[in-house]
Amino acid sequence: MEVHTNIPLKNYVTMHLGGPARFMTDVSTPEELKQACDNAITRGVALFILGGGSNTIVHDEGFNGLVIRNRILGFEVLEKTPANTTVRIGAGEDWDKVVQRTVEMNLTGIEAMSGIPGTAGAAPVQNIGAYGQELADTFVELQAYDIEQQTMVTLNANDCGFSYRDSIFRNESQGRYAIVSVTLRLYSEAPKPPFYAAVQEYFDTHGITLYTPQVIRDAVLAIRADKLPDPKQRPNTGSFFKNAIIEQWQLDELRKTWPSMPAYDLGEKRFKVPTGWLIEQTGLKGTLHHGIRIHDKNALVLINESASSYQDLSSAREVVVGAVRDTFRITIEQEPLEL
Ligand code: EPU
Repeated sequence: MEVHTNIPLKNYVTMHLGGPARFMTDVSTPEELKQACDNAITRGVALFILGGGSNTIVHDEGFNGLVIRNRILGFEVLEKTPANTTVRIGAGEDWDKVVQRTVEMNLTGIEAMSGIPGTAGAAPVQNIGAYGQELADTFVELQAYDIEQQTMVTLNANDCGFSYRDSIFRNESQGRYAIVSVTLRLYSEAPKPPFYAAVQEYFDTHGITLYTPQVIRDAVLAIRADKLPDPKQRPNTGSFFKNAIIEQWQLDELRKTWPSMPAYDLGEKRFKVPTGWLIEQTGLKGTLHHGIRIHDKNALVLINESASSYQDLSSAREVVVGAVRDTFRITIEQEPLEL
């Protein structure tokens, strides 16, 4: 296992910002992963496991520890029944290639999550979701190395504590587990309406009435290409903010001033309000702050146009968070994790 020193992390994260890693290594087997983790722990070196870098923000001082790039590959069918196919996916696999593969097998379950950048192992960390599907819907279990206990463990959906763009891996267990593989149960049954509004609209305008995983994938890829900037050309992390979750009384109060405020009922008197809409109302959509552009097609996305430091990003974030707070008295939360 080769360990490199003083590696600029900005080349490994899609926001293209931030300082160096003191050490960096690639692992391509669970055994190598275990070894790298154990070595770091024994030497008292801090650890960070990096996937595709599409949901990670790096600080200007970089990371004074070991960054492990998870390159563990694998795609294995564990079980096949007439109704379901269960697959185990190596954490280092490119997520979209996995989606493509399951779509080619004509399986339903993750096709609406086409085009999400990053690795399969990162998918459970923020319980990725798009166009009406989220990882938790098909998730069976994952294998991970428990860095604290120095042992391989299997965690089911309950153990992972999934909720909207959240899991234990971003909270109480942050830094504890290195994900090795993810097991999903997909369906043979064709996808059925109702579809996410934007997808249905695409079907209507294209006269599509026969629904297969492939047509959903194609629709989602087309919608995404129009709304979300390609991180390879315009550095970004997808949605930079989570949608806001507010209480009924807050919604009632806000709708007195903003009668058209969109909100999705989550039950138990809680509502999800699209943060893109909130930002748009502040007038910031499309504007540039400290080299960071608030995307003109989706205000939830921040694009690094000419920022040169984390400090620039942080200042731009403050402009957006502050404007939403001043206008709506809602404090919006960041989606990508910080290293
Ligand atoms: N909206 C605005 N202005 C904007 C952006 C959105 O008014 O600038 C409104 C839209 O008109 C719509 C609502 O907000 O009524 C929701 O917009 P959209 O369907 O585009 O989805 P989103 O809430 O902006 C979420 C996910 C995306 C996912 C899409 C599609 C989060 C934080 N983001 O975005 O996920 O692709 O739904 O399902 O939940 C990501 O996590 O990185 C990501 C891209």
